[in-house]
Amino acid sequence: MRRAVITVALAGLAVGTLATSRRQLTTLSGGGVVRVSTGSEAGADILKRRFEDDRFEEGLRLFDLRRHRKDGLGFPEMNADSCRACHQDPVIGGAGPIELNVSRMGHEAGGVFTDVPGGQGISKLYPPYVEGREEYDVQEPNVFEQRQTPSILGDGLIEGIDDATILANEDPTDANLDGIFGVARVLTVAGQPEVGRFGWKAQVPTLEDFARDAFGGELGMTTPDDRRGFAFTTDADGHPDPEVDNREVRNVAHFMRLLPAPERKGSTDPGVAAGEALFSSIGCAICHIPSLPGADGPVPLYSNLLLHNVMEPGFRGMAEPGAPMGFFRTPPLWGISDTAPYMHDGRASTLLSAILAHDGEAASVTANYEALTQQEKDDLLLFLEDL
Ligand code: HEC
Ligand code: HEC
Repeated sequence: MRRAVITVALAGLAVGTLATSRRQLTTLSGGGVVRVSTGSEAGADILKRRFEDDRFEEGLRLFDLRRHRKDGLGFPEMNADSCRACHQDPVIGGAGPIELNVSRMGHEAGGVFTDVPGGQGISKLYPPYVEGREEYDVQEPNVFEQRQTPSILGDGLIEGIDDATILANEDPTDANLDGIFGVARVLTVAGQPEVGRFGWKAQVPTLEDFARDAFGGELGMTTPDDRRGFAFTTDADGHPDPEVDNREVRNVAHFMRLLPAPERKGSTDPGVAAGEALFSSIGCAICHIPSLPGADGPVPLYSNLLLHNVMEPGFRGMAEPGAPMGFFRTPPLWGISDTAPYMHDGRASTLLSAILAHDGEAASVTANYEALTQQEKDDLLLFLEDL
């Protein structure tokens, strides 16, 4: 296995290096180094697509491109110098390791949550070894939340699911008395309601919106104002704005939209089929709905894209309008065996610990899991690993 070294510039603090040990095919493309794992279906699919679709190829190049100060990188602060620096596992566009978690922070007193100056936009990468990771000297924040890098694979299919489909599964008053609620993240964008679906709190409705948000929040690079409220349009680095134009933003969004969804491994081990039946019978599938109808047929994502509170009592974290403390989007489970660690903050390093970390609305389902025989528990894990 070859080791690739990725250099990450940290929020103006230091420059750290991280090593990944994935099998990677490295090709030079423009100014960037495109790393596509050849060890998976997704890697092969990405390689094939880049030779067939010019905009995909260009979006891939831009997603991978290492930016520099002379391009306007940084506000002057930034979390990294490319999108790929965080989204890389198991292939470009995938998830990220826990060292790349960003910290969000705010202030809470007497049940009232307030943003600190800089607002929810303060999303900083302070790796575990950086002293003061959970400190920020603006206005005494007392709530900190870690967020890890989710995989973007298959997000184009998720974008194609209608708002109405997501809203149809809401159960805000627990009308069916199963102890599980489920609310959509409804955002007001340009004066109109839209259902958010990307990000741990489903805070962003489309991939183009996320590209603008990430160019600003992660790379410290400005993009043109499209009046949807996700662009960072000006900054203080002295470089003329916008630093990334609409064509680049759209090509990156196009690349993300066409990233292949993780494929089912398709094991014929009878334990996998048994685990799949248990996944439904003990209640996991209430939130992790196996499939939702998309623009071009069923999307086997294993999520309802709704917000639930599965955190332990006393959990403190970020509150956003329409997504209170502890509420997170049910994450899709396709490709889940490749994207450890798990949960919004990466608190679970294995699938087993992810299951056991479910409390709150999922407490009765977790109890059902705990009541299974060892054989049944093993089968459930075999099924998750097959996704
Ligand atoms: C410092 C690491 C880091 C970098 C660099 C980064 N991201 Fe992310 N990305 C994250 C994290 C963390 C999240 C989850 C954010 C949240 O929900 O608060 C995320 C979420 C996303 C999502 C939503 C995925 C989903 O399904 O919910 C998209 C799309 C995305 N990023 C695109 C990009 C693009 C495009 C770039 C480059 C312009 C980029 N990211 C750069 C860490 C990073
Ligand atoms: C009440 C809804 C609900 C139920 C029931 C539920 N989950 Fe979840 N699941 C969630 C939410 C919400 C998260 C994200 C929590 C977070 O980000 O901290 C999650 C996270 C996960 C993750 C980690 C995903 C990732 O990308 O980090 C796995 C794996 C998982 N669930 C599997 C299961 C299994 C297996 C069951 C049944 C034993 C189950 N879940 C039951 C809502 C649910």
